[in-house]
Amino acid sequence: MCSIIAYKGKNKAAPIIVDALKKMEYRGYDSVGVATISRKKILLKKGVGKVEEVNKELKLEALNGNVGIGHTRWATHGGITDYNAHPHHSCNKDIAIVHNGKIDNYEELKNLLINKGHEFKSETDSEVIAHLIEEHLKNDNIINSIIKSCNMLEGAYAFVAVFNAGTIISARRDEPLIIGIGNDEYYISSDVLGFIKYTDQAIFLDNNEFAIIDKNLKIYNNEGREIHKNKVQIAWEFANVDKGKYAHYTLKEINEQSYTIARVLNAKYDLNEIKDAIINKKVILVASGSSYNASLIGKMLLSQVAINCEVLIASECQYYKDVFSSNAVLLALSQSGETKDVLRAVSFAKENNMKVLSLVNVKTSSLARESDLSLSIDCGPEIGVAATKSFTAQVAFFYKLANYISNKFIINVDEINNAVSSLLSIGIDEIVEQLKYVSDIYILARGLHYPIALEGALKIKELAYIHAEAMPAGEFRHGPLALVDNNTVVIIINPCDNTYNDTSSNIKEVKARGGRVLGISNVVSKEYDWFIKIPSVNSIVYPLIEVIPLQLLAYNLALKRDYNPDYPRNLAKSVTVD
Ligand code: AGP
Ligand code: GLU
Repeated sequence: MCSIIAYKGKNKAAPIIVDALKKMEYRGYDSVGVATISRKKILLKKGVGKVEEVNKELKLEALNGNVGIGHTRWATHGGITDYNAHPHHSCNKDIAIVHNGKIDNYEELKNLLINKGHEFKSETDSEVIAHLIEEHLKNDNIINSIIKSCNMLEGAYAFVAVFNAGTIISARRDEPLIIGIGNDEYYISSDVLGFIKYTDQAIFLDNNEFAIIDKNLKIYNNEGREIHKNKVQIAWEFANVDKGKYAHYTLKEINEQSYTIARVLNAKYDLNEIKDAIINKKVILVASGSSYNASLIGKMLLSQVAINCEVLIASECQYYKDVFSSNAVLLALSQSGETKDVLRAVSFAKENNMKVLSLVNVKTSSLARESDLSLSIDCGPEIGVAATKSFTAQVAFFYKLANYISNKFIINVDEINNAVSSLLSIGIDEIVEQLKYVSDIYILARGLHYPIALEGALKIKELAYIHAEAMPAGEFRHGPLALVDNNTVVIIINPCDNTYNDTSSNIKEVKARGGRVLGISNVVSKEYDWFIKIPSVNSIVYPLIEVIPLQLLAYNLALKRDYNPDYPRNLAKSVTVD
């Protein structure tokens, strides 16, 4: 959700920390703070705003010392204020902590600590961690204090604490934390992007483990036994996180679809194991947001090759526990591989002895590591909060998998790629100009196009903050048609395939009531008030291309309405809390 970075080494910590926070800002970004150790004192600065702004105002980068921690927050407990920004001090100011996640029993712990004389400065749940460690250190050594503190915390956490003597400790449960190992330097981060610029060697802490970095690094289990963990090499591809020539990451990532879709379609996956795992089984597809929309297409494609599928929204899984049985296989989709709701579904599946398969973009993510078999869509870091290239790569993967199971669909990669590339340069300025003040948009489509309507509506909501609602076109006349008047805008996804005639009938219904229609199709109709022409392709693959104009529409509406598409308000790239 938020991001954590810590550094201990020979260089000045603050500039490294600030740079890392900028790179990871997409994860969560309402406030920011840095603490460093200088002459056995903790120097701490924090404030509300984006890293760039707060750094400019408070000169975070100027803090002295070779040891430090930093954080960007995505508030769960307590308003977005300077006090609530991390790091948080202990009472004696000898400890400062940053935390990602949420502590469910923080009120109880806070009262306990207040009764012992601790004074709290923030409304956050996180601050209890600093005081708990401080309290235990009164009677115990550092290892026992960490174990005792962690044992008292309920909920999810990844935290890093620095001590004025220069020691760093970090611990995790159900939130990611990765240690980057440089040349006599250590980095601790919630995301490899925090340190990949400096080292590709990393150790992934597992749940309930903690690390102490003093002169060197030691890792312990929750009983205080030192454990040895192997280093992993991280793909350098993750170092490539510049916007390049693009104004925004979102636009860059939309454009990257000119090769990311084809890359999946051409990839040499070994799909035999996944085929063996799903054939003759019931497959439960689980995902959130855009990954859920991609799963809906996955279900439709896999069903056509005789795979029995069900799709569940990850956060709903707990209410469908009866679906989780050892006869079924879980296929979890998550770009980040860190979405809490998805990881929870994985736990249910494991409790029920189900095999866990996953499709991720981040190969080193918690989901990938917790799966029996994990495959990657390999589309490179997706920084824009709105999923774009990861969505189409997930969809492309389902074409690939379905075709591997039974060579049913005609997938002409060049045809798809040419269509995608040509759509990336379409002119939609006039449409954007006319839709910029619209308050509600309905998106209608049928069959395989309906998940694209859902995805388009999600993009328009997240990026442009316009209420957009997707509906199977046939459902429109079962109620929502009552809303149509001459202020209504309806987008119709209507390529010429087996849905065309039925969907076309919806256009007339909308027009008859004064509504205006934007058609997205390979064939024009005089009924459309606005029209985006998509190339004609083999009908099964339309979803991969018709989503592009919707992504561009959402992106350009955001710009027209003066919103930053890379950082939609209230959102974080991956939702690691529930
Ligand atoms: C998509 O634009 C959203 N930002 C969001 O719905 C996202 O797809 C969802 O949170 C799931 O993320 P994941 O794929 O990383 O699990
Ligand atoms: N729960 C903590 C807070 O609200 C941390 C949130 C985060 O992960 O950024 O401050």
